[in-house]
Amino acid sequence: MSNIYLPNLARIIKIQDETYDTKTFEFEFADPKVKQAFKFGPGQFLEISALGVGEAPFGLASNPNRPETFRVTLRAVGAVTWALHQKRIGDLVGIRGPFGNGFPFDEYKGKNIIFVGGGIGLPPLRSLIEPMLDARSAFKDFLILYGARTPADQVYQDRLKEWEKMSEIRFGMTVDVGDANWKGNVGVVTTLFPKCNLIVENTVVFVCGPPIMIRFAIMELSKLGFKPENIVSTLERYMKCGVGKCGHCAIGHKYVCVDGPVFNYKEIGKLPEKS
Ligand SMILES: Cc1cc2nc3c(=O)[nH]c(=O)nc-3n(C[C@H](O)[C@H](O)[C@H](O)COP(=O)(O)OP(=O)(O)OC[C@H]3O[C@@H](n4cnc5c(N)ncnc54)[C@H](O)[C@@H]3O)c2cc1C
Ligand code: FES
Repeated sequence: MSNIYLPNLARIIKIQDETYDTKTFEFEFADPKVKQAFKFGPGQFLEISALGVGEAPFGLASNPNRPETFRVTLRAVGAVTWALHQKRIGDLVGIRGPFGNGFPFDEYKGKNIIFVGGGIGLPPLRSLIEPMLDARSAFKDFLILYGARTPADQVYQDRLKEWEKMSEIRFGMTVDVGDANWKGNVGVVTTLFPKCNLIVENTVVFVCGPPIMIRFAIMELSKLGFKPENIVSTLERYMKCGVGKCGHCAIGHKYVCVDGPVFNYKEIGKLPEKS
């Protein structure tokens, strides 16, 4: 059995600037055998190490149907993310994983789908949105709502434009504060709800973003009649091992790294410390 604490080396093959503090990195494993064997599910995460600096968990943000290369979107907030932001194409990082439960993709088939993403909450949702779009006919109504503080804070701007044009999905975008070029909705993401004719029956809603956005989105969705078991999110906790050994990510009797990071709000409501 291979050592679960030993990272595999991966090479950076593409870097995309997203906002002033956020970049998307595309990787491929240096060892062709590791590259060939690598698979992940939507909503899973990796432990990425900036060699000589440290390791931190990051959600996979690309399509699990195409795992040969994979993307992660990183906001520079501390030592590891700053060190990763200094990397260039061709540089190596260490990678462990994929870890975590991920989204149970098949359970959502035949349902209406709503995504509510805020700021840097969109990346983990993208690993579910993309394979769902690959299998679009397996799902009913499909709505993506995305909010950011300003137009400059939007990630994946090219992909947002493509989603906006796609006839087979509904898409809404908003910013808290516009600029001279912004022609769209202004207001927090929940201001889009009354404009989008949300279907409550047979629907699963995926909510991911800053804690304050999640709190208001859940409040509004509950008022509209969405049940907690049909509202799904990913939790972030301080992590070390990522594999259920160290206890750093424990909330009551659950370890976010192995029981999560994906939970529905019925499960989250039962945890001693809510997100
Ligand atoms: C499952 C999971 C998925 C994640 N996915 C992503 C992702 O896709 N992209 C991304 O940019 N980040 C993601 N994170 C957060 C990322 O792991 C942390 O920001 C990480 O600690 C950064 O390491 P650092 O050394 O750069 O900063 P640190 O020195 O660890 O932290 C810098 C600052 O951020 C705060 N902080 C760190 N981690 C957290 C946290 N989890 N919650 C609240 N505050 C925190 C610290 O208090 C400190 O103020 C994820 C975390 C988890 C658990
Ligand atoms: S990070 Fe070690 S148990 Fe979850």
